[in-house]
Amino acid sequence: MKVDFYHHQLSSADAKGIADVLDTPFLTTGTICQQVEKQLAEYFGAPHAMLANSWTNGALATLMAMGIGPGNEVIVPATTFVASANIVELLGAKTVLVDVDPGTLLISLEAASKAVTKNTKAIMPVHLYGQMVDVSKLRKIIDEVSHGDQYIYILEDSAHCFEGSLNGAKPGQFSDACAFSFYATKNVTCGEGGAVIFRNASLYEKTRETRLHGMSATAVDRFKGGKYNHWDMMQLGTKANLPDLLAVLLPRQINEIDDRLPLRQALCDKYYSAFENTPIRLVEKVEGCKDACHLFTIGVREDFRDEAINILNENGISVTVNFRALPDLTYYGDKYHETKSSCLNAIAWGRQTISLPLYPGLREDQQDHVIDTVLSKIVPLL
Ligand SMILES: Cc1ncc(COP(=O)(O)O)c(C=O)c1O
Repeated sequence: MKVDFYHHQLSSADAKGIADVLDTPFLTTGTICQQVEKQLAEYFGAPHAMLANSWTNGALATLMAMGIGPGNEVIVPATTFVASANIVELLGAKTVLVDVDPGTLLISLEAASKAVTKNTKAIMPVHLYGQMVDVSKLRKIIDEVSHGDQYIYILEDSAHCFEGSLNGAKPGQFSDACAFSFYATKNVTCGEGGAVIFRNASLYEKTRETRLHGMSATAVDRFKGGKYNHWDMMQLGTKANLPDLLAVLLPRQINEIDDRLPLRQALCDKYYSAFENTPIRLVEKVEGCKDACHLFTIGVREDFRDEAINILNENGISVTVNFRALPDLTYYGDKYHETKSSCLNAIAWGRQTISLPLYPGLREDQQDHVIDTVLSKIVPLL
């Protein structure tokens, strides 16, 4: 039996929205994006929302608006996708990689607070796999160790957590900004895309400009009122705006995302109870967290992980690895080699982990095949 790693929930029915945009003269960032930004702000109860053409570019524009550059440090957990750290490196700042909790694999708050120096300009908690970091606690801890009038921004990486919450609070409630991904495999997707929500109003205003070359007016504003309006450029920016052509795929998914979550939770619960009393390593559940169930990851013995992947592949099951720890990748390992000994939890997990298929359209017989294969062909070899 063949089991794909992922299958999105879009269909040809969604083509109607794209056709409607094609019938207007405006293909790039326009009124559809404005409507989706309003919908996102309402969904998250956030004062401001800004769409972007990826998590990466939206978060990069946000760091640019914070003024991050050479001489600054940004604290990032060692278990994450490369994008979280790459945007810091692209701006010439230093990525300070810190270890994760060995149970939840979320950033260790203790390691994060110890990593703060007078050069720390931002910290990026990552809501890994759909479970959330306690950002309100992080804010308090960071404020206690910051130096004098130093302000440390918090930018949440919520690429894995759209519909989750912690103690009833959705992502983005206690930080300056919170970035989401609408990449092809994410719980809400338009192929490539992202968004940033803000509680910090001045950061939002600046990021709207750094999202578009630093220009003071978007395309739609430049032609407001039926006439051409001049724009200025006061700071450098990137090109991170999402076109209406893609944004139009989002509203239905945002409306339905909460109803879809029980399907994902049921799949995760079934995996969890099947592997609970076996030598398979499972991610510890965060108390009070409504998990967005983006990825279901398991851990197996380090020296057996790649063989386990082969066994799953030979049985028709597609899997991925999320994530080899950043210090285990050549660029970060070479540049910040001290993190090879300070991020041991992240490194160990990155060498053990395998992500199993998980999406609302995964059929019962397909999930049973994944579970049977793990229990009958992998567990006996552990
Ligand atoms: C934790 C994390 N952060 C950031 C990203 C980057 O998202 P995007 O591809 O939308 O730039 C991803 C993408 O998979 C991710 O998993």
